[in-house]
Amino acid sequence: MSASAHTPYQILGEDGIRELTSVFYDIMDSLPEAAGIRAMHAEDLGPMKEKLAEYLIGWMGGPPLYAEKHGGVCMTEPHEPYHIGPDERDQWLLCMHKALEQTGASEALVEMLRVPLFRIADAVRNRQGPSAAAGDPDIIAAG
Ligand code: HEM
Repeated sequence: MSASAHTPYQILGEDGIRELTSVFYDIMDSLPEAAGIRAMHAEDLGPMKEKLAEYLIGWMGGPPLYAEKHGGVCMTEPHEPYHIGPDERDQWLLCMHKALEQTGASEALVEMLRVPLFRIADAVRNRQGPSAAAGDPDIIAAG
């Protein structure tokens, strides 16, 4: 077996990433544990299936479709209107891990994506919480 380093894009292909994204939002739409983040989204998840698929195609090592259309890949601003704390981040990650499972992703691919997915979901988080790896100090100088 070749030991060459494949990107997730090489493994899944564009169609595979589109399928993953579609399943991701179908799971978000039906999973009781994800009801909190589902409620933040528009009724019709169709446009988000397209946007996230294009985002992930670039993020996973393919052509930068989202950046070409929207001018950048920074996810801070589009998420600013929403309260995203550790719970919301974990709901998002739960949907993504279930989507990987349902689309038959290999263990190797799941492992390859685990840390980067956590990092990008945590970067979108804009609220503090107990599990946050402390960006802003909560310490108030005694005086
Ligand atoms: C961490 C938990 C997250 C929550 C709760 C969340 C929630 C949302 C919501 C509510 C929207 C707006 C949807 C709408 O207009 O109907 C949105 C947009 C979007 N999200 Fe997230 N998101 C999360 C993480 C992520 C991550 C990790 C990514 C990328 C890997 C991502 C990619 C996007 C993209 C590409 C858009 C569309 C932005 C645009 O309008 O161009 N999101 N997200």
